[in-house]
Formats: sequence, C-alpha cells, structure tokens
Amino acid sequence: MSQARLKIEVARAALRYVEDGMLLGVGTGSTVNAFIDELESSGRRLDGAVSSSEATTERLKAIGVNVMDLNHCGDLELYIDGADEVDDHRRLIKGGGGALTREKIIAAASRKFVCIVDQSKCRPILGEFPLPVEVIPMARAFVSRKLTGMGGRPQLREDFVTDNGNLILDVRNLDLINPVKVERDINQIPGVVTCGLFAQRPADKVLVASESGIETRG
Ligand code: 5RP
Repeated sequence: MSQARLKIEVARAALRYVEDGMLLGVGTGSTVNAFIDELESSGRRLDGAVSSSEATTERLKAIGVNVMDLNHCGDLELYIDGADEVDDHRRLIKGGGGALTREKIIAAASRKFVCIVDQSKCRPILGEFPLPVEVIPMARAFVSRKLTGMGGRPQLREDFVTDNGNLILDVRNLDLINPVKVERDINQIPGVVTCGLFAQRPADKVLVASESGIETRG
C-alpha cells in the first residue's frame, strides 16, 4: 500500500474519536489534509475547530467548518494531528511543516491528543528527523551557537517564515535519549519560541497505519 493510501486509512480511523457538536483542534500536514477530506465525507457536523496553521484554516473553511480563535474557546475536547517521528512512549517530533508552535499550544489546550501516522514515522529513539526549532529572527545566530554547544548541527530552513513571522532551525545530531530534558533545555534558550519535541506533553493516543491495519497505542 502506498504511503498516501496509509495516510488516508489512518485519517479515516481518527474519525471514530470525532463526534457531532465537538470543538476540535486540527493540526497541519498531508496526513491532516487527508483527515480533513475524510471529515468532509463523513458528514460529521462540528461546532467549530481551532486550526494550527493558515494552510489548515483554508482547508477547513473550504469544507464549511467554523474556524475559531483559541482565545474565544475554553479547553478543546480533542486534537488531531500528524507527526514526523513517534517513539514507543507516544513522544513526538513535529514541525516538518513549520507549524510546531501553534500545534504545541493546541495540544496543551486539548483534553485528548490523537496523533495519526503511517508506520514510516515510528522509531525506537527520536532524532533521525532533524528537530525543528522556531526562533525569533534576531536570535537566530545566538540560538544556533547554543544548539551547537548542546552537540547539535542547526541549519536554517531556507526561504521559510512561520505563520508567526519567525524562522526555523532544523537541528541534526542531538542526543534525544531523554527527550523531556532536551525539550525543556531548548525551550529555555532566550529567543527560542518552542522546539518540535512533544515529550513533556506526548500524544494520548497514536494511531499507526501499516499494511496489516491500524494499531492503536495508548
Ligand atoms: C507540521 C507537522 C506535521 O504533523 C508533520 O510534519 C507530519 O506531516 P505529514 O502528515 O505531511 O507527514 O508537525 O508542523
């Protein structure tokens, strides 16, 4: 089965968590795009959604979903999003699409975070995928030096500005054996908005699509 097909299968599986009248958090990326397509076909009627990116907002509006400002909502019942890497403890690397900060805010504001991936995203230890770090533009070089001091090899994501007007450093070579500590350490560097480790607040459930079907973790 192609990766695109697996994304559709896992997107469809996520619908079982979505109920009419829900206020839903929606992530960013190609797996989430498949989820939005499946949501439309399902005929579910949401009360509204909070979106993690301009790209997702556009897609949600195109299928008639009421996209709301998180400031005007309480906590959300459910957040659906993809990931770049997932470990066996449901800890994630996210931000391949550059939406990591809004994704982390929505994950923190949601009672349940259901992460949807195909099996190519699963790892025993995180870190093959370069870790995205969103930085305030004036702090780019300073944060790069700090990340290098932690053993990382940061690289500026070329021609990319986040929806928040910031830059992304993609960091290779970090030792992520203790991702909770690394997440905390990186987030404490002045000028870092947030890093793409979701370890302090991992996903509550991870749905993994493979040739043999959908595995539910958590
Ligand atoms: C965007 C993300 C995405 O969830 C991640 O990049 C996975 O994307 P895709 O579903 O296209 O593989 O974190 O910031």
